[in-house]
Order: sequence, then C-alpha cells, then structure tokens
Amino acid sequence: MKNVIYDNYKDAVPESDYQEHQVEVLNQIFRVTVPGGSFFYNHKCRWERGKMFHPMDWLRKTDWTIRQEIIWDRVIAANIRGWRFWQVEERVYWLYKPIDKHLIGRELKSSDARLTSIWRGVPEGKNPHPAPFPLWLPARCIISTAGTAEQAVVLDPYMGSGTTAVAAKLLNHSYVGIDRSSDYLEYAKNRLARAMEELPKLQDELALHKVSTSFTKRKQMGRNVGKHRSTTP
Ligand SMILES: C[S@@+](CC[C@H](N)C(=O)[O-])C[C@H]1O[C@@H](n2cnc3c(N)ncnc32)[C@H](O)[C@@H]1O
Repeated sequence: MKNVIYDNYKDAVPESDYQEHQVEVLNQIFRVTVPGGSFFYNHKCRWERGKMFHPMDWLRKTDWTIRQEIIWDRVIAANIRGWRFWQVEERVYWLYKPIDKHLIGRELKSSDARLTSIWRGVPEGKNPHPAPFPLWLPARCIISTAGTAEQAVVLDPYMGSGTTAVAAKLLNHSYVGIDRSSDYLEYAKNRLARAMEELPKLQDELALHKVSTSFTKRKQMGRNVGKHRSTTP
C-alpha cells in the first residue's frame, strides 16, 4: 500500500520507481517459488495528480502468469474525498508459476471453486497496524491453493502485523515473513506465539471450504452446480 505511514517510513516515491521496485520484488518471489506454486498479491488502483494507475500496469511486466483478479470489497475505507466515488475495494491477484509451459495449472477443488471472485469483509479492527488483513483473507488463499493436508511454505514479503503468518501457522504450514520495520516484526513474533487464540476467527472461513452434499446429490436436488454456481453448499 502506497502513501501510508508505517512505523515512521513514508513510502511515497516517484511512480516509475515504485512500479520498477514492485516488478523486481515480484520477480524475486517468482524465482524462489516452486513451479506450480501461487502468490496472492494485494494492491489497489490509485491516482497521482489525477492519473490512474492500475496494478496490471506493472503485473504484466513480471514473470508471473496472472490467473485471476479478485475484488476485495473492504466495505469501509479511510480518507474519503470528493474526487471520485468512495473507493472501498482493493484487488487480490492470484499469480501462478507454471510447471513447464502449462499456464493453466491445477484445478481448484470444487469446495474452493464455488467461492466467487468478489471477497467481502472489513479489515481487522483490533490491530495497531494501519492496514491489517482480516485473518480469513490470507487463510482463503492458503486453503485454496496449498490445502491443509501437506505442509507448504508461505511467504509474505510485506508481513506487517503477521496476519499471513498466523493463518499459515493455524493451517499447519511453515511461514517466512519479511518487513522493514523491526517494531512490526516484534509485534508479529509475539502474535505468532499466541496464534492459537486466533483459531476461532478461522472457523467461518474453514466452513466455507466444505461442501455438505456431493456434486451428484446437489444436481439431483436441482441446485446449480455448473457454470452459474449456487452459493449454498
Ligand atoms: C499493507 S502493510 C501489510 C499488512 C499486513 N498484511 C497485515 O495483515 O498486518 C505493508 C507492510 O510492508 C512493509 N514494507 C513496506 N515497504 C517495505 C519494503 N521495501 N521491505 C519490507 N517491508 C516493507 C511496511 O512496514 C508494512 O508493515
């Protein structure tokens, strides 16, 4: 997130430097990701002196295959001004590192694929960080691509208060977190030590990834199982 003061750092840099840096970071993450691995990149569209910049402007310059653009409807956002409608949405890009040249990759499980590409939920409230994820958000990315059966390594290069690492830990994965603020790193470390206390917050998200009836049964019951999926499990 640009132009937010994080622990005394103000990350306002010229747009071209910012984009170049993002491409560099994303390509380094691509380099260390296993083929078949995914990276979920959260960013929003923004404006500088009336000119709009879209994350796609620099994502297309990276080595990643862009699998999907997801809208995160945060419902709320700070700093409302009258230049445009109140921007309450951010984007989450599902980026994929192909195995050989197979750009499409493995299918999601049907229990995950029935979720839509619009994710709604407010940012975490009880958190001193200025821009924390709600826990369900990284959890959704992890459950859908890494599952919970085998251990994967989850990396967050802008870890902040450690939400992604907490989600990874609760879902039995290893994690690596990076942040330039030693205070946030300290906060994240303490939070991780008490991660189990946050497990109840994951119950609703875990329930979303279960289907109580099989595909055949849902079809027999006349529920939509194909192109226009029902939102009821
Ligand atoms: C939007 S916040 C991440 C919040 C996090 N998702 C959470 O749930 O708490 C971005 C974080 O990136 C860190 N950051 C910004 N630029 C960085 C850089 N160049 N290297 C490492 N960390 C950086 C900031 O200190 C900040 O904590």
